[in-house]
Amino acid sequence: MKIDELYALLRRRGVLWPTAEIYGGLQGLYDYGPLGAALKRNVENAWSAWFLGLSPDYHRIEPAEFLPEATVRASGHLENFTDTEVTCESCGASFRADTLLEKIRPEGIDGLSASDVAALVRTSGAKCPSCGSSSLKLPRAFNMMLGVGLGVAGGEKAYLQPETAQASYLAFARMWDVGRRALPLGIGVIGRAYRNEIAPRQVLFRMRAFTQAELQVFFDPAGFPVPFATVAAEPLPVLRASARESGATEAETRRASELVAAGIPEFYVYHLAQMFRFLRDVLGYPAERLRFLEKSEKERAFYNRIQFDAEARIDSLGGFREVGAVHYRGDYDLTRHAAGSGRELAVTPTGGATFVPHVLELTFGVDRNVWALADLHLARDGERTVWKLPAFLAPIEVGVLPLIGKEHGAFAEALTATLLGRGLAARYDEAGSIGRRYARMDEAGTPFCVTVDGGTVGDGPEHGTVTLRLRDSRAQERVPAEALPARLEAAVRPPRPAVP
Ligand code: GLY
Repeated sequence: MKIDELYALLRRRGVLWPTAEIYGGLQGLYDYGPLGAALKRNVENAWSAWFLGLSPDYHRIEPAEFLPEATVRASGHLENFTDTEVTCESCGASFRADTLLEKIRPEGIDGLSASDVAALVRTSGAKCPSCGSSSLKLPRAFNMMLGVGLGVAGGEKAYLQPETAQASYLAFARMWDVGRRALPLGIGVIGRAYRNEIAPRQVLFRMRAFTQAELQVFFDPAGFPVPFATVAAEPLPVLRASARESGATEAETRRASELVAAGIPEFYVYHLAQMFRFLRDVLGYPAERLRFLEKSEKERAFYNRIQFDAEARIDSLGGFREVGAVHYRGDYDLTRHAAGSGRELAVTPTGGATFVPHVLELTFGVDRNVWALADLHLARDGERTVWKLPAFLAPIEVGVLPLIGKEHGAFAEALTATLLGRGLAARYDEAGSIGRRYARMDEAGTPFCVTVDGGTVGDGPEHGTVTLRLRDSRAQERVPAEALPARLEAAVRPPRPAVP
């Protein structure tokens, strides 16, 4: 679907809408309605089950969203967390330089100096996309953090977190003290991040407030043991930085073991493979729509030593877009925070040497993946529109539909209550023809519907049985109502990784 068509459908179904919609909305901010909020929660739960399931030493914490100024000075965000911005002298509109230049430089401007960007803007003959004027100011670095003044006089300067990662670095010392005092130690956060985007666009893809799910794994650089054999044969679609520099634009499939042979550390490739499995096997993205794009030294975020962005091909957005990434941040974060806070963040595991732990970061954009799940799984199938979400992500797991409300409603309502009591997201619906109700459930991504009819409530051989209808195949079978919870529970449990 095209972006406008998909967004209109999601708005109509109450999946999401612009924040403060009745006032005309607020750029780059969206609210989730009941279906969207449930889907997002399920994506977060699936992320937790998978990534925290990789090790008993990976834990989730829930930090506050504010960062005192000293922390973002130490982390480098005050200085470096910038995008290049261009303002039109005629109408005053502001644009990201990479968007202004995207026709002549589709690969983006990461790694270019301000004067390189200025030269490109000048020689490209770029015009203001709003008013068409060619009077554009010199590009400038614009810091994207949102500052707040806490306290009555606003004297306590703080920032809304631009990434959830920082909270894990700030929590490391406490987690070390309260934990096993051993590495690797994983600290995961699912939370909002805030960025004053110059030009929010593409709905959930460039927002000013968005949810990240990030896992920071602290490890000893002398050795980070992982069960690499379990992923060694995994075929990974990668577009290496060196290949891109030679003009390649398509990913090549490389086994995980080949990437290690090419010099990428095992611990990194292992987690890259687990990210791939999560996107392919858990979220159900087709492997041919996925790739890992390696960022070159010039393009990488300022804190990274190795960076592969996980990208999905999203037709509504016109091609591959980043939905996650794996970052090897070295000792950058703890070294900077040790200097900034004056707190010793080096560790001495029992009987070992003292060192500053290194960090491997697995980052994942929750909202972006909500959009990707709509783009990749919601489609027209003949007359119907079906959202083929994996069952454990579906906002409504089972629709309970009485064939005739007056006659079968009481049984169906009692069954709904039973299913809800078993922890299943059941929804009773008696409005309209059975065909229209199936269609509504298909469009909402509901994997199972049960229909209660005369046989269910009668005294005949079908007494107590219902029709179970599967969304994707539309297959129907007669099953005892009391067998439903056991039948559905396994399907709606998010998968965990198979780790030894
Ligand atoms: N924490 C990494 C990122 O925000 O991209």
